[in-house]
Amino acid sequence: MPTVLITGASRGIGRGFVDRFNEAGWRVISTCRDPGSAGLGGEVHPLDVTEQASVDALATTLKGEPIDLLLNNAGIYGPRTYAYDEIDYDAWAEVLSIDAMAPIRVAAALTENVAASNRKLMVFISSVMGSIAETATGEGMIYRSSKACLNAAVNVMSHGLQGHGIACVLFHPGWVRTDMGGPTAAIDTTTSVRGMFDVIDGLQAKDNGRFINYDGTDIPW
Ligand SMILES: NC(=O)c1ccc[n+]([C@@H]2O[C@H](COP(=O)([O-])OP(=O)(O)OC[C@H]3O[C@@H](n4cnc5c(N)ncnc54)[C@H](OP(=O)(O)O)[C@@H]3O)[C@@H](O)[C@H]2O)c1
Repeated sequence: MPTVLITGASRGIGRGFVDRFNEAGWRVISTCRDPGSAGLGGEVHPLDVTEQASVDALATTLKGEPIDLLLNNAGIYGPRTYAYDEIDYDAWAEVLSIDAMAPIRVAAALTENVAASNRKLMVFISSVMGSIAETATGEGMIYRSSKACLNAAVNVMSHGLQGHGIACVLFHPGWVRTDMGGPTAAIDTTTSVRGMFDVIDGLQAKDNGRFINYDGTDIPW
């Protein structure tokens, strides 16, 4: 039975992944900031992805346990309306910390677990909004630049982790009806998660470094 570890499992896309991987018979390790109020069943561990002590504690708890798929999903959008000349720099730093730095922090702490598994996969939930090629608006600088930073960091890391046999893949989950995506988003969580699950299930070492839509098509950087 393969093992998946999911960050930000309390709600939204992360919660959808918990349900889908459980349905598929995987061992699911859910992580979230407040397990007590998340209402998640099964194996749940506390994890604030921005706190090094929290990440280290999880790594200590899971030491020696193979993790086939590390699924870095936790993220925030931050302020929605700011143009470049209205930036709240503290808010920008917070979004960078959660969306760009934290996934690398978690990946670094759990690299040995993934390297010890059969599938050796790290998946990072990014966004098409992090694609510089697809940006045609002057809005959303904080979120767009934070996801672009994640994309660049994972691209660099994918080269470094090749030596461990680990494949790193970035996903755009679609515009999804969650707290972040809002009620008018294009697709529901089930459609997004089922699409990504099917793509993830077929990933191989040669997919290392790809940036993929939830339907399996490549996204330009
Ligand atoms: N929804 C969309 O349309 C869309 C589109 C493109 C990309 N994405 C990406 O998809 C991912 C999931 O988004 P979503 O739509 O499911 O958002 P969501 O419904 O707002 O859920 C966000 C999740 O991230 C967790 N989180 C936030 N900060 C955290 C921290 N410091 N430590 C641990 N967990 C933290 C939240 O936990 P709490 O419950 O504790 O707050 C929650 O579980 C994000 O990376 C997002 O950028 C979403």
